[in-house]
Amino acid sequence: MRVGVAYYPEHWEPSRWERDVAQMADAGIRVVRMGEFAWSRMEPEEGRFEFGFLDTVLGMMESAGIACVLGTPTASPPAWLHAKYPEIYPADKRGYRLGFGTRQQRCLNNPDMRRHSRLIVDAMASQFGNHSAVIGWQTDNEFGGNLCYCPVCQARFHEWLRGRYESLDALNRAWGTVFWSHEYSEWQQIPLPWEVKCGDAHNPSLQLDFRRFQSEATVRFQQEQIDILRAKSPERFVTHNLMGLHGSMDYYDLARNLDFVCWDNYPSTPWFVNDMGPDMTADAMRGIKQSNPWVMEQQNGITGWERMGRRPSDAQLRCWAWQTIAHGADAVVFFRWRSCLYGAEQFWHGALNHDGKPRRRYWALSDFAREVNSLSVTLDGTGVRSEVAILNSYEQHYAFQIQPQAEGLDIWRQVSRYYRALRQQGLNVDIVPLSVDLAQYRLVILPGWHIISSAEADRFKSYVRQGGTLIVGARTGVKNTENVCRTEPLPAFLSELVGLEVDDYDPLGSAEIKVETAKGRLYRVTCWADALSLKGAESIAVYTEAPFQGETALAKNRFGAGTAYYFGAFGEPAFYEDLLTSILDESGVQRVVNAPAEVDVSWRERDGVKVLFLLNLASEERTVRVSEQVFRLLGAPCEGGRITLPGFGVGIYQWLGSEEDLENEMEPSTYEHV
Ligand code: GLA
Ligand code: ZN
Repeated sequence: MRVGVAYYPEHWEPSRWERDVAQMADAGIRVVRMGEFAWSRMEPEEGRFEFGFLDTVLGMMESAGIACVLGTPTASPPAWLHAKYPEIYPADKRGYRLGFGTRQQRCLNNPDMRRHSRLIVDAMASQFGNHSAVIGWQTDNEFGGNLCYCPVCQARFHEWLRGRYESLDALNRAWGTVFWSHEYSEWQQIPLPWEVKCGDAHNPSLQLDFRRFQSEATVRFQQEQIDILRAKSPERFVTHNLMGLHGSMDYYDLARNLDFVCWDNYPSTPWFVNDMGPDMTADAMRGIKQSNPWVMEQQNGITGWERMGRRPSDAQLRCWAWQTIAHGADAVVFFRWRSCLYGAEQFWHGALNHDGKPRRRYWALSDFAREVNSLSVTLDGTGVRSEVAILNSYEQHYAFQIQPQAEGLDIWRQVSRYYRALRQQGLNVDIVPLSVDLAQYRLVILPGWHIISSAEADRFKSYVRQGGTLIVGARTGVKNTENVCRTEPLPAFLSELVGLEVDDYDPLGSAEIKVETAKGRLYRVTCWADALSLKGAESIAVYTEAPFQGETALAKNRFGAGTAYYFGAFGEPAFYEDLLTSILDESGVQRVVNAPAEVDVSWRERDGVKVLFLLNLASEERTVRVSEQVFRLLGAPCEGGRITLPGFGVGIYQWLGSEEDLENEMEPSTYEHV
């Protein structure tokens, strides 16, 4: 486990560096990330490389025992590069070229951008690839797809389409371009999804292919860097800092050739909305490679560019940082070391204020680093295991972005409904792509899998046939991979598995109707309502109101040795809590901690060691009940099965389990940290 900071030596006088490094070492900082925006310093003019400043700082870090991750600087191409190659500027949906300023003002398909990116990465890797302070590399910074609409992108898109469809005839058929006379007779006629007369109403097939194409362009851009780094900097990791649940590209593809992923976590920023909080994000990020990530940027104080958000308390910052570890992070690198004096992020606060003096955030960071460093012995090598999984897919996400259909239908909103209810039961939850082995889970949730192939459907069937429990969400199976509606009754290919067909539907949006469960409980549902016609399944909830009064909304079907559920409506939180409680009971998933909603309950484990994390995200104290024995590693004691955590309190416990577990699993060496 490591605690670190993002450091920008180029923002400070060289005379300050020694002091910064000494203060970091004193605080227990063991890793820094540097370099990712310093292109203009590393290559002040074309082909002239100046690495002296970084070399000096790497030396200082090494002497202080601080490991370094270097970022490639391609997210902020320097002014001279643009002056020479103005076509590097990306174009927006109106075809308008965006100019210099802020960052990421580049098209990743542009050949000059790509060539110069390779050159700077090559120069950096030649210089520092074998430096003993350098443990790894971060490519670029927060890739966000390449939603550029420039002529180069259009030409590349045409090539990409030729590769995919081979003939225009095949493309015209696959996309159904006969609609509105869009049939193309030359590749060059195919537009990008520019701003057009009727809003965004481009052909959905074209839109989906454009998203795929630009996502692949970003993956390819990154791969050129990975290849150079692997060749010139062996035995160092290569990673990238992802933006959490950000749907602008396919992170599974982006991560394929990385050693592990990193993500950036700013819990108080407004994009954590609609229940998709840092916990769900952390689980989705861990799920990308099904391995422990790092948090490469962790909120360290007040955030904001032109306007600032409220000040999180030191206890809250600590609780958020521990939360990422609880969900699998092996390192937490805070953003940033010191608040910058200039530039657009002057008010994005670091561990030190502008004045550079150690004050409360510095001391709070030191306390946190000390805690993490001392618990490393227990936590190193632990990971997150889960018996339940929710499937995720960027293609499904694009499909709902292109056609939201009804408010709230987006795949991650759907994921969050199930996620909250499962987490409420004190369970770890994996959020993973379909490429995982489903058989490792007792329960798998398939939120609206809008685009489906028969091969995917076969995997779900065999999982259930062999004894798994699957929940299938509404709007599954609507489209084929070209984003064209299927002709099979819904949920296409899965009707037999769930024992029903969707007979009709109502896109409710924010309107509400009620359903009654077989147990006689009434719940409000919104967003979507499917009316189900049963073909062997058993109804478990019916609508009590128009338009589908008396018709089935939810059903359960035995299939082979397992059970498949179909949820044709989206309920209030209590609806999921109740239904999932009985489904978890039936599928044999054990729950041992009973905590109020604001307490995040998470587990990490390795052979013989199981560690429970309790994070009270509320500002007042909360009490948690634990049904078996635990040994306190950090935080409030456990008395008579009860643990009372103060507001934003963190409790970490080694699980002793039942007496049998105790004999089998305990390792005396883990008793060090009382
Ligand atoms: C992102 C970036 C950082 C910085 C912070 C704060 O996460 O990766 O470079 O800009 O946001 O704005
Ligand atoms: Zn472009």
